[in-house]
Amino acid sequence: MAAYKAAELARLLTQDGIDVQTVMTQSACHFVGPVTFQSLTGNPVHTDLWETNAANNMAHINLSRNVDAILVAPASADFIARLANGRADDLLATLCLARNCPLMIAPAMNRQMWENPATQRNLSLLRHDGIKILGPASGEQACGEIGMGRMLEACELIEAVRAALQTGWLQGKNVLVTAGPTFEAIDAVRGITNSSSGKMGYAIALAAMEAGAKVTLVSGPTCLMPPAVDKVIRVVSANDMLIAVQAEISQTDIFISVAAVADYRVEKINPQKIKKTDARLSLELIPNPDILMTVSNLPRPPFCVGFAAETEDLEKNAEIKRRKKKLPLLVANLAQDAIGSDESELMLLDDAGKHILPKASKIAQARHLIKHISSLYKQ
Ligand code: C5P
Repeated sequence: MAAYKAAELARLLTQDGIDVQTVMTQSACHFVGPVTFQSLTGNPVHTDLWETNAANNMAHINLSRNVDAILVAPASADFIARLANGRADDLLATLCLARNCPLMIAPAMNRQMWENPATQRNLSLLRHDGIKILGPASGEQACGEIGMGRMLEACELIEAVRAALQTGWLQGKNVLVTAGPTFEAIDAVRGITNSSSGKMGYAIALAAMEAGAKVTLVSGPTCLMPPAVDKVIRVVSANDMLIAVQAEISQTDIFISVAAVADYRVEKINPQKIKKTDARLSLELIPNPDILMTVSNLPRPPFCVGFAAETEDLEKNAEIKRRKKKLPLLVANLAQDAIGSDESELMLLDDAGKHILPKASKIAQARHLIKHISSLYKQ
């Protein structure tokens, strides 16, 4: 049954930082209540062509002008027929007819309805009109039969939505992102690390990829699944990270240093596990190389973006850091708010001054940041 997959899709898209507006046909409302989608997306759900609260009774125009892509999931045989004929007999059909953005449909129906020549004829008209048809898959159906007509899974549809949202802001650029913490070994089993989750760096790598960049992600130890970028290099210590960055930097146009690199490491790692005694134990720490500064001091550095997590005097300390590291752009946040959490509020500091990105999910912030970087990079 495709209806519950649509709810899961709305949840995953929202979690992915996408602002989801839901339009439901009357048939859809028989399967799932609008309140489900309202609570999953945080936005009101539209069901009526004649919404009285829409400006000038133009719900279809207002909606279609404010969206970057439309996905109809599930798309029934009846809806496909109406779309193929350019009907405008409910809000969804009218919205599709009035659109000026990419339209995708995810068919879901009984296998015989799918195979019917009328449906296939309608689908070929839609393909001809440039509408993207996602699926369906083959498998067990709600009616108990087995065959073509199952709606694709939410996670498969998300990939298509991401592709449709590609902006091209960084088309063809090589972007190198560092992410996560580093782990500085003390002995064979212990080490010094920090609570960076890697979420922000991974989100930035994904947003850069969505913007058309070729992305290399150098990641310290995290529990996250990396996005499907061109290359992922896993490292442990700051020194490993420096070596990985140096190997990539000559092919890099934009370097985004998000990693929370340990400032110090133990000079001599004990090859064995240090034995516990009653005596005090001192560790002598030596400074780690500053990876970002090593890159920004190169004779021909890439466009360098730094991050600064501060616990106090955010703007002042961050601007000092930006100048010291010679960065065209520094992203500052309050360490206590950002580290490990799913949301952050960011302050972007560049030569023009400061820009605040109010609290939002890390993927939404990453997309704003990539847009900002592309505007500075082009100048
Ligand atoms: O000086 P601070 O550590 O606060 O600077 C943070 C910025 O510098 C981040 O962009 C971080 O990735 C980078 N950095 C680095 N190498 C270090 C320390 C920080 O690249 N050893």
